[in-house]
Amino acid sequence: MATDTHYEKYKSDGSLQGNALEWFDARFPATSMWRGHLSEYYAPKNFNFWYYFGSLAMLVLVLQIVTGIFLVMHYKPDASLNANGIPVAFASVEYIMRDVSWGWLIRYMHSTGASAFFIVVYMHMFRGMLYGSYRQPRELIWVFGTLIFLCLMAEAFMGYLLPWGQMSFWGAQVIVNLFSAIPLIGDPLSLWIRGDFVVGDATLNRFFSFHVIAVPLVLLGLVAAHILALHEVGSNNPDGVEIKKKKDANGVPLDGIAFHPYYSVKDIVGVVVFLIVFSSIVFFAPEGGGYFLEYNNFIPADPLKTPPHIAPVWYFTPYYSLLRAMVWPILGIDAKFWGVVAMGAGVVILAFLPWLDRSPVKSIRYRGPIFKTLLVIFVISFFILGFLGTKPPSYAFFDVIPGAPIAQILSAYYFLYFLTMPWWSKIDKYKPEPERVTFK
Ligand code: HEM
Repeated sequence: MATDTHYEKYKSDGSLQGNALEWFDARFPATSMWRGHLSEYYAPKNFNFWYYFGSLAMLVLVLQIVTGIFLVMHYKPDASLNANGIPVAFASVEYIMRDVSWGWLIRYMHSTGASAFFIVVYMHMFRGMLYGSYRQPRELIWVFGTLIFLCLMAEAFMGYLLPWGQMSFWGAQVIVNLFSAIPLIGDPLSLWIRGDFVVGDATLNRFFSFHVIAVPLVLLGLVAAHILALHEVGSNNPDGVEIKKKKDANGVPLDGIAFHPYYSVKDIVGVVVFLIVFSSIVFFAPEGGGYFLEYNNFIPADPLKTPPHIAPVWYFTPYYSLLRAMVWPILGIDAKFWGVVAMGAGVVILAFLPWLDRSPVKSIRYRGPIFKTLLVIFVISFFILGFLGTKPPSYAFFDVIPGAPIAQILSAYYFLYFLTMPWWSKIDKYKPEPERVTFK
């Protein structure tokens, strides 16, 4: 049946189940939703490896919510010291790790899940850049995506304060202090965010509230909007060809296959491979070499002892590098302020991608050498920015080449890549797109 007839109600075949479904369907759009989003949602038949990451992002979201629910049963957002002089919040995480049955597993799944979420979402976003999935008519899917990315960053940042270790405390202290660089309102604003003159119990409680309730609710709403927008216009594919342009007599796209059962089953392959990798990390390397859980965070927060090197978790480090690249005061305003602006702009600029790209074709398969070269440089420089963000500003490659100016050049490249895109995407060569998707 074609997509246009989704809204037909189910007609009973006279059996007990049939009657029950018909009764239900007259009161709730069960059958029409099943058809519209699964059994009659026609997705292009040429999805490849890159198309696993959307469903994996949903899996990790569920994993984080479920493990989070169990963590909240034992975790205490309390910065006061217990009888042993250890902050209660820190001690409650230790209690989860040592005394709660399977607590270590739940906690490691949640902490590894945070990194997994960013790996999956970065791959998912990169797929969009490869195949031009953000282009018309999918602009809103992409804009919802960037909002999801922003929420995810807020969620991870606030969650990281909760174990109340040294990195939790000092990371939050550094980031919240950045707001004080905003002219006029900076100081009262950072005081308002913290609820205290330093990161303290009030900060911990409000971050807890945002981390477990407010941000996840927004995130779920945005993911629903993301999928609804996707199902309104239909999926893009590795050829960047619109499958809705060629339909059969029933209105079914010639190159489309029903999401269920074809992709619901195919996505299980991605889930199995993901779970193998994920559980290997959870069971054998949950600290991820100090990148997933930083070593300093196994020390209770001490407001009197600043760690020598404060670095955010790996998934923030490319953006942290953009922040640190700004070292000059401009218009008489502190460089710190411009750092915050650069970091924020680095994320916000992504939302404009649909309007910056002027190429006549969507997919990398039909794009020219300029796009391919600049994209490769973009990816490499994003990795280097990420690497440098984990290091102190004084870091030098092989103890010779100073990292700081390289981070500045690559930060400039990050922005120039987007800002000059309307020009280079237009003049680049391209191959004509095929009429139908290519599929071997
Ligand atoms: C919690 C995070 C996210 C979830 C659960 C999620 C989920 C999904 C799912 C299930 C799909 C359809 C399957 C697929 O095409 O892979 C999809 C498509 C898409 N997503 Fe996301 N997504 C998330 C974050 C993002 C972000 C951060 C962006 C970009 C900034 C983004 C951009 C897109 C685009 C452009 C598509 C359409 C792709 C196409 O048709 O080729 N998503 N998303």
